[in-house]
Amino acid sequence: MRVIVAVLGGGKIGEAIARGLARSDRVRGVYLTRRNPKKLVPAVKKIRVTRDNRKAAAAADVIVVSVKSTDARQLLTEIADLAPGKLVVSVMAAISLRRLEENLPGARVVRAMPNVAASVGHAMTAYAPGSSITEADRETVRHLLGTFGESREVPEHLMDAITALSGSGPAYIAILIDAMVSGALKVGIPRDIAFQLVTRTLTGTAELLREKGIHPAELRDLVTTPAGTTIAGIYELEKGAFRTSIMSAIEAATQAAERVAAKFDDEESR
Ligand SMILES: NC(=O)c1ccc[n+]([C@@H]2O[C@H](COP(=O)([O-])OP(=O)(O)OC[C@H]3O[C@@H](n4cnc5c(N)ncnc54)[C@H](OP(=O)(O)O)[C@@H]3O)[C@@H](O)[C@H]2O)c1
Repeated sequence: MRVIVAVLGGGKIGEAIARGLARSDRVRGVYLTRRNPKKLVPAVKKIRVTRDNRKAAAAADVIVVSVKSTDARQLLTEIADLAPGKLVVSVMAAISLRRLEENLPGARVVRAMPNVAASVGHAMTAYAPGSSITEADRETVRHLLGTFGESREVPEHLMDAITALSGSGPAYIAILIDAMVSGALKVGIPRDIAFQLVTRTLTGTAELLREKGIHPAELRDLVTTPAGTTIAGIYELEKGAFRTSIMSAIEAATQAAERVAAKFDDEESR
């Protein structure tokens, strides 16, 4: 079946999702909304830009909600009477399936967490299906999320931690890349050469681990020769508590995501 999708909230992530969806033959058209639609210049034939959330939601088979969590309540109220019977995918951090289902009675709801790599078709999106999702919905969701990257179903209780891990992840990786490029500059490698070497080393290493299915520690040992260059580098990383810092960062970000989720949930119960 070919579907029409309404992406409500055409910001950084919403616009990237709309562009991905437009590439699919199974998507007949995409409505993309924001209150100030002049800021959207998608230049893609299949994407119709509008500020009218209700018109977009009414026309759509599938609704994607991609506003900030703080704008969620107003938007969900606006479209609630149009959602029954429709598949709704929320990519908003912090808003639970329970709250989504309460606010959109009769809709079949999925909570998803993509990341900013959606803008180049390489997002990692974790999703948790709501109580009334069917097998056919699951297949539709996997296809739609697949238009802008890879997806994986997860239990909902992991969503705040996943927000901290792969939602925020691109920021950590960007810092790592920046640090490695700075190190390269320090030893005399020009910036453009360093950037290519570092980014390709990062994606290549990730692909190697995935394809061969080996443990990262095994790969580390493979390239670490006694008294060689790699161990000299690793020693400095360990001295700087590199791995502990990253573990603490993910833990702190998870706690922050949980606090935001609890605050939103509290406000909803008032
Ligand atoms: N950015 C990420 O890396 C990322 C990753 C995963 C999940 N998310 C989630 O995705 C959501 C959006 O994040 P973002 O980074 O894309 O934020 P953003 O760039 O601020 O986008 C939100 C968009 O929603 C629009 N908007 C607000 N109220 C609206 C309404 N009532 N009707 C229609 N559009 C409305 C805003 O445009 P106007 O002001 O013009 O209306 C804005 O462009 C958040 O809930 C976030 O948790 C983001």
